[in-house]
Amino acid sequence: MQKLMNMNTQKLIDTAIAMVAGDKGLLAIDESNPTCNKRFAKLGIPQTIDARRNYRELILTTPDLGKYISGVILYDETIRQQKKDGTPFVKIIIDAGIIPGIKVDTGAKDMAGYPGEKITEGLDGLRLRLAEYSQMGARFAKWRAVIAIDAIGGDGIPSRACIEANAHALARYSSLCQEAGLVPVVEPEVLMGGTHTIEQCQKVTEEVLRTVFNQLFIQRVILKGMILKPNMVLSGLNCSKQASVDEVALATVESLLLTVPAAVPGITFLSGGQPCELASARLNAMNIRFKSQLPWALSFSFARAIQQPALEIWQGKDENILMAQKALSHLARCNLAARRGEYSAEMEMEMEKI
Ligand code: G3H
Repeated sequence: MQKLMNMNTQKLIDTAIAMVAGDKGLLAIDESNPTCNKRFAKLGIPQTIDARRNYRELILTTPDLGKYISGVILYDETIRQQKKDGTPFVKIIIDAGIIPGIKVDTGAKDMAGYPGEKITEGLDGLRLRLAEYSQMGARFAKWRAVIAIDAIGGDGIPSRACIEANAHALARYSSLCQEAGLVPVVEPEVLMGGTHTIEQCQKVTEEVLRTVFNQLFIQRVILKGMILKPNMVLSGLNCSKQASVDEVALATVESLLLTVPAAVPGITFLSGGQPCELASARLNAMNIRFKSQLPWALSFSFARAIQQPALEIWQGKDENILMAQKALSHLARCNLAARRGEYSAEMEMEMEKI
């Protein structure tokens, strides 16, 4: 039994390390159907299972994706789908040298007793779902908790109750993942919407991360076999004073150094609605300034900051697939460069020439 446990642990550690190796990062294509449909609706794309499948095929067949992307996060509908020629999506991913992963939470729901706050659900039956996903080829999983900051209301949002309940769920999910041989991607997202300052975001982010790691410890999660997917520390979207790229880099790294144990192999940021160029520039600034001093890799696990331009170009039309794939590949390459501290404004101009 002990031997089996050790083999399982080693497998988790190897997978987690591979997820942040080679300066690559994760690509999240795990939007739930309602979220994907909402994004399609804005562009006049039909909100059908076929359109969602076509879009995911476009992404997964992007030439050279595996040069920049180490892992792809799928959604329950997507992991069961195939290319038009019948090749399963999971096979395409593995053949491209990419690790398949799966979003396993069932969404953030209103939290009883705490208006304006959310608790992420999905623990019931999770052990069985993880076993099924693992059989289908997934090697890691993702669970997203969302924490809002209400700087105007002043009625204590985020509450301790919201932070603790979400941290507890993240830790229970992580422990079940590791039991099933899947690396948990732990995503406590402090939302960027609001008028809060970067200092307020920093304070909340640190409290959230401290609570999450405390719960991970209590639930006996192996830190070497997990990935943290946090928000960057940012000024609220509607804050009158927007922090500079360097201020964001400094505040984010400071918070992570205070809260994230060195045993964690990698930190892969979510983009959270930041413009693509800013997400890359901020990651780049962190790596230029701090990479050599940090215990963990600083990487990306972006959805919108890699996919959004491709979606806007595609618009549901076959004749736009090639251009959309070029845009996707370009942004994946920009973020690989950001991991190396080699991203520049000139790289953005390359896209304009395509
Ligand atoms: O859970 C959220 C996604 O995995 C990351 O999405 O980069 O658009 O925030 P985002």
